[in-house]
Amino acid sequence: MNKFIADCLRVHYADMQGYVSAGMESDKTEEKLFLNANENPYELPGLEGFNRYPEPQPKALAKAYADLYGVNTDQLVMTRGADEAIVILTKLFCEPGKDAVIICPPTFGMYGVNASAMPCEKLEIPLIKQERSYALNKDEIITTATDPAKNVKLIYICTPNNPTANSFDHAEIAEIIKSVEGKAIVILDETYAEFAKQGSLAPRLNEFPNLVILRTLSKSFSMAGMRMGCFLCADTDFIALAKAKALDAYPLPHASVNAALSVMSAETQKIARANIDKLLSERDRMVKALEAMDQIRTVFESDANFILVEMDNAGDFIAFAKSRNVILRDFSKGEFTLGCIRISIGTPEQNDIVLDLLEEFKNQKAA
Ligand SMILES: Cc1ncc(COP(=O)(O)O)c(C=O)c1O
Repeated sequence: MNKFIADCLRVHYADMQGYVSAGMESDKTEEKLFLNANENPYELPGLEGFNRYPEPQPKALAKAYADLYGVNTDQLVMTRGADEAIVILTKLFCEPGKDAVIICPPTFGMYGVNASAMPCEKLEIPLIKQERSYALNKDEIITTATDPAKNVKLIYICTPNNPTANSFDHAEIAEIIKSVEGKAIVILDETYAEFAKQGSLAPRLNEFPNLVILRTLSKSFSMAGMRMGCFLCADTDFIALAKAKALDAYPLPHASVNAALSVMSAETQKIARANIDKLLSERDRMVKALEAMDQIRTVFESDANFILVEMDNAGDFIAFAKSRNVILRDFSKGEFTLGCIRISIGTPEQNDIVLDLLEEFKNQKAA
């Protein structure tokens, strides 16, 4: 393991023994009789195979992810969505009461929740609000992360960022990763990378020993309900340690594994990618339509499948939409997103409903 990652790990992980499940002791092959996991030998109709525990980290799935993201199979840990990857990484690196993480709000809330659960300190370095976008405060991130007194272990960067929807330039992210090498680990959340123009940094994983990338099938591959994702790191020893010592015993259910394998087949990927194109063209249509509305003050740049919008009476509009069974996300009272709502891009018909509601809301207010 690279010395820096080994030093960052909470010390007890070095000697701690992970759980060796029955499933890990022997590969599942047809000719073997498995009486080692207290499973029920009787399959129920329509539920065949579910009587057996799943492979903890299925090899076929690792291969599919590795091909998809352009990394090696031993450079990834499969998790229940990117959410579980955040839980695992916090647990591995953040010593309660001692270490800190850098978070750049407004951003995805689970980074802070997991830090608080340890608990470890959250150092907030807010994004810099610009006319139609949000920028990283690169210098402040680097200064804070390289200050030994701050005990920063993890820096979360989310691109495209939720909820602002904009991307941060790969060159700028690479500069941060390089500048904090030997001081902190950058967790790059690429949950929305398939929607982004610049794509993913995963093909450059081997350039950065202090980089961990989060990926998920939830958004671009329409699999939120199956909870499938992974994290990537160049250091194969770290990946092996995480698998051996930081995972639940059988984390990935059969149904989710099968669905993930199916969605990554060439045929289904083609459909998923066509859907991404549809969503992007709908997003662009929505941006134009929203920009033309008087009550909309700012439509922030979007490189994702959602849009952050600053508008008059944002909270009231959220309530109005809800009264019509249209649920949008209210950020209007957030310190860094005052007056903003987040709209996920739906089908053309669903998006038209939102536009119609905005028009109706404006007319009501004017009356
Ligand atoms: C930025 C970001 N990261 C991670 C997640 C969690 O994704 P998953 O469904 O893979 O757990 C989300 C979900 O909305 C998200 O917006």
